[in-house]
Amino acid sequence: MTLVTDPAAPRIAIVGATGVVGNTLIELIEERGLHYREMHLVASARSAGRELMVDGRPYAVQDLEDFDFGRADIAFFSAGTPVSTEWVPVAAAKGTLVIDNTNAFRMDPDTPLVVPQVNAHVLERRPLSGIVANPNCSTIPLVRVLQPVEHRWGIRQVVASTYQAASGQGHHGIEELLEGTELALRDPDAELPAERFKPPLAFNVVPSIDRLLDTGFTLEEQKMLQESRKILDRPHLDLTATCVRVPVVNSHSEAVWVEAGAPVDRKELVGLLAALPEVTVHDAENPAAFPTPLRAGHPDHVHVGRIRVSPDNPRGFWLWLVSDNLRVGAALNAIQVAEHVLRHGFMAGGTR
Ligand SMILES: NC(=O)c1ccc[n+]([C@@H]2O[C@H](COP(=O)([O-])OP(=O)(O)OC[C@H]3O[C@@H](n4cnc5c(N)ncnc54)[C@H](OP(=O)(O)O)[C@@H]3O)[C@@H](O)[C@H]2O)c1
Repeated sequence: MTLVTDPAAPRIAIVGATGVVGNTLIELIEERGLHYREMHLVASARSAGRELMVDGRPYAVQDLEDFDFGRADIAFFSAGTPVSTEWVPVAAAKGTLVIDNTNAFRMDPDTPLVVPQVNAHVLERRPLSGIVANPNCSTIPLVRVLQPVEHRWGIRQVVASTYQAASGQGHHGIEELLEGTELALRDPDAELPAERFKPPLAFNVVPSIDRLLDTGFTLEEQKMLQESRKILDRPHLDLTATCVRVPVVNSHSEAVWVEAGAPVDRKELVGLLAALPEVTVHDAENPAAFPTPLRAGHPDHVHVGRIRVSPDNPRGFWLWLVSDNLRVGAALNAIQVAEHVLRHGFMAGGTR
């Protein structure tokens, strides 16, 4: 039970509480025993009045349009970029600390972009904007393994290819994949739903996520570059990505090529990665034991396998990453930001 009467415990609002990230935030608040003295679940008028349980207590979902952010010390936003663009400044103006899961403020210079295991030091002071941004779901696991490599050997270049799950497009994305799969199994010539994924995702891989930019890269690919540079504080980091949607329900994977600044000893690299918090290294030669979205292990860890130093270039190596995009890539990162701020940061002396 984490509802407490302690006046130092925050009043929490979850905007987008009915979505897959919102649901995961609720699960994690329960699992981790985050203390709160009020809980407000907020979504659109479509789900206002719907009841959701938190720690065994029912809460009616409130319409965002009617919600008074003066009632929340911390607000987690996971309701899409347009909703955050409009409503996060409203919440911040009321003094609420916003932890935003969308793309709206990630590159704003007054808003820290935080992966607590990598750059928690930026949370010492309250951000000028009153917002802490959560990075993209593929950026979070990537920077967590890149940081120690940068510290030890330096990084010359990173090339990442992602294999991203349908849940990255929210609950409608999961439904569209499942519906399309069922239809295709019944009739291979059936017209498959293609609202969230174009072309359809069932029995397919789709090399485009988010909108296409003039550069020929997608916004998702640009986010990985810009966000990694900001989090690692390497404004000229040479990183390039191809982001691909695959017919997996949940958990993103990434094949990552890193060219370091000096020759890399494989054993040392394995040891360095294995020593990271909440990272599991799967260093088995047996292909059946390689981490996959279906069977990686602890859902709150970044799983690393297939660690290969190139025999032709001792500075270059490959990593295979698997992590739960709803947890590690979204809700867990947001909760860990809140936990850090409440324990060590600018809210430690009180809720505001
Ligand atoms: N899924 C991921 O892996 C992931 C990872 C990182 C970041 N994110 C970001 O998190 C956000 C939510 O993603 P999701 O996957 O949870 O999506 P989702 O399952 O589709 O849920 C969307 C949530 O937003 C609410 N919402 C939509 N329009 C709204 C409006 N006009 N006013 C108030 N609430 C509104 C929905 O409420 P109703 O029930 O009322 O429609 C629902 O609670 C997105 O910005 C996404 O980019 C997602």
